[in-house]
Amino acid sequence: MRGQVLLFFSVLSLSSVLGQVSYSIPEEMPKGSLVGNIAKDFGLDVKRLKSGKARIFTRDNDGYIELNNERGVLLIKNIIDREALCGQTTPCALHFKIILENPMEFYSVTIEITDVNDNPPSFEKNDVKFKISESAVSGAKFILDRAVDSDVGSNGLQTYKLQPTDNFVVKLHDQADGTKNVEMILDKPLDREKNEHLSLVLTALDGGEPQMTGTMQILITVLDANDNAPVFTQSVYKASIKENAPVGTVVVTVTATDADHGSHGKITYSISSILDHARGLFEVNDESGEIRLKGNVDYEKARTFQINIRASDDGGLVDSCKVIIDVNDMNDNKPDIHILSKSNVISEDANPGTVVTMINIEDTDSGENGNVQCSINDNIPFVMKSTTNDFYSLITDSGLDRETASEYNITVTCSDEGVPSLSSSVTLTLQISDVNDNAPVFERSSYEAYIVENNTPGLSIFTVRARDADWNQNARVSYILEDSSVNGVPVSSYVSVSADSGVIHAVRSFDYEQIKDFHFRVKAQDGGSPPLSKNVTVKMLIQDQNDNPPQVLYPVQTGGSLVAEMVPRSADVSYLVTKVVAVDVDSGQNAWLSYKLQKATDRALFEVGLQNGEIRTIRQVTDKDAVKQRLTVIVEDNGQPSRSATVIVNVAVADSFPEVLSEFTDFTHDKEYNDNLTFYLVLALAVVSFLFITCLVVIISVKIYRWRQSRIMFHSNLPVIPYYPPRYSDTLGTGTLQHVYNYEVCRTTDSRKSDCKFGTAGSQNVLIMDPSATGTMQRIQSEKSILDEPDSPLEVRI
Ligand SMILES: *[C@@H]1O[C@H](CO)[C@@H](O)[C@H](O)[C@H]1NC(C)=O
Ligand SMILES: *[C@@H]1O[C@H](CO)[C@@H](O)[C@H](O)[C@H]1NC(C)=O
Repeated sequence: MRGQVLLFFSVLSLSSVLGQVSYSIPEEMPKGSLVGNIAKDFGLDVKRLKSGKARIFTRDNDGYIELNNERGVLLIKNIIDREALCGQTTPCALHFKIILENPMEFYSVTIEITDVNDNPPSFEKNDVKFKISESAVSGAKFILDRAVDSDVGSNGLQTYKLQPTDNFVVKLHDQADGTKNVEMILDKPLDREKNEHLSLVLTALDGGEPQMTGTMQILITVLDANDNAPVFTQSVYKASIKENAPVGTVVVTVTATDADHGSHGKITYSISSILDHARGLFEVNDESGEIRLKGNVDYEKARTFQINIRASDDGGLVDSCKVIIDVNDMNDNKPDIHILSKSNVISEDANPGTVVTMINIEDTDSGENGNVQCSINDNIPFVMKSTTNDFYSLITDSGLDRETASEYNITVTCSDEGVPSLSSSVTLTLQISDVNDNAPVFERSSYEAYIVENNTPGLSIFTVRARDADWNQNARVSYILEDSSVNGVPVSSYVSVSADSGVIHAVRSFDYEQIKDFHFRVKAQDGGSPPLSKNVTVKMLIQDQNDNPPQVLYPVQTGGSLVAEMVPRSADVSYLVTKVVAVDVDSGQNAWLSYKLQKATDRALFEVGLQNGEIRTIRQVTDKDAVKQRLTVIVEDNGQPSRSATVIVNVAVADSFPEVLSEFTDFTHDKEYNDNLTFYLVLALAVVSFLFITCLVVIISVKIYRWRQSRIMFHSNLPVIPYYPPRYSDTLGTGTLQHVYNYEVCRTTDSRKSDCKFGTAGSQNVLIMDPSATGTMQRIQSEKSILDEPDSPLEVRI
């Protein structure tokens, strides 16, 4: 068909050119294919061709076409490749002449070779490699190799296609020489992090039918750019930490990632900002992002910390996050007891409810750890009262009594409710001050005191004592004798009470024979204001002393006259001669009298009844018995020592009175002589004693004088040793010591009597001795009055 069209075209050319014919054939026709029927086209007979030895004449391009003389047609001798024949030149034609001999004729033949799409576009290389930074911006151009298609016209290279089209588009760019540059243009930026290696296929397309393509692979390696900032996995990290956690505790680890590669992706952590109170408490490990505790966190100082952490890569891109660290409270604070005010002393009469101390409690922990309860030790009359939160007052619970407890140690213990609980305590010492609420109390409800009569005035008899449970001045007891009278005399003339000591003194010497007992009241009063007092009855019992010798009432002893009992010579045995009657004003044993016969003219004749003092005969009186019988009867009391009295009983054994009278005149003479003798002896003794004392005084005086003189002369610079004269002790019968002279003074109280009396100076109870035991009642009383005088002349001291 196609050949016919071309033939038609050549016929038209024939019409204009004699002897010239054109054919058009596609390239690549197989061998032997018919090109054209020249016999017909030139109007030649086949025979003529034969005879004319028709042949093809050409200078070049020989060998493609052959002439078949038999059929008068042109055939393909060898396959014609238009591209090889003409290259890109169009149109491409074979020109040759067909030469005939006999006659010589020639005809021109032109065979146009038309293109057949037999060549695909092709690239020089199968692949091409690019390295493109991901930071390349859109519009960046990359020149690609062009493809080549040896076909021409529409069979030639028409267009390119780039796939995939994600990032790049292909664009043809006309050059000045008419060629087109193939450009790969970055349309969308690359991202190494998404796709590090890209593989694109560039397809070159021709316009033939069927279309043919050629491809080239474009391998792109995306180079990293620091286009990714680090990114924290969380924008806010929350962590909590116990307060007092040890240094080095990992609090939290922050993590940032960086999609970049290498140093662009190497993240360094640092603290970007931190509030002052957290400064120095935390550190971040720059590589691992571990946040560690560097100092001590205290819940009471800060409960939360906020740290901004920055992550930066080497390219300088950063991200930051916030770390919020909550501090968990630990029960690490003891309750703090603060004493706002306190009284150290409280009066014992303080009313219940009196505030003693105000306390403020503070526990800086929170929640349970900071809930504080306070208590005090048991068994004390105080309670803790919570007034408001954290304020406690310690008040008295019941009445106080200093006498029971003068001091309280109040231990206030406050504990919080943490687990384990912490507590602290404080001890307050509270003194209870005294109030005069106790009267003095005597040791006994009543006293009985005994004093032996004849005491010295001023003698301390007895001590009453009262105690006062109060303190100090309130307990200072004074003793006061209460006014009363004894037998009409104020009691103060009998006894006195020492206000301080309670010692009761006798004001006077008591005489049992006059007063046997009396009582009085002593008041004990304390020094409080107002004072309190108590009184007590003291019963004073005076004890008898054997100070009275028996007194003979009968027979009456008269000075001059003689009384004699008459015993008739006819008296029988056990004849009651007389009865000695004596009394003793003392009492008890001291007044229990016994009678004994001390001397008798004839002891065999009389006896004295021991108890009753009856003098009886013990044998028959005979004529031989003297008329004048003298009996000395001693009456003794039973005191210790006993006292006695003697009585002389004259007995006349006679039947008639004149007989008696003549005999008894001697008695008085004898007696007078005896008395005189006694008197002289005493006088002599007194004189000798006086001389002795005088001599002694003179000698001692002389000695002292000389000794003093010698000291003044030779040792006048030495201190003078005072001289103490030898002392004369008044010790009775205790022997003589060196420098102590026992000196006895005997003095008659009745110039005619030889009684000797020993005075003991300073002795408490003065005993009156009457060794001769012949005194009468009157005499004893006069002696006593002398002893009662304070300046008794009986005492001599040198
Ligand atoms: C109170 O405490 C003090 C000091 O520890 C102590 O001397 C005193 O005896 C205590 N008083 C009482 C009543 O326990
Ligand atoms: C002595 O005490 C008694 C009670 O012990 C009292 O009745 C009396 O009035 C008191 N006497 C004086 C004088 O205070």
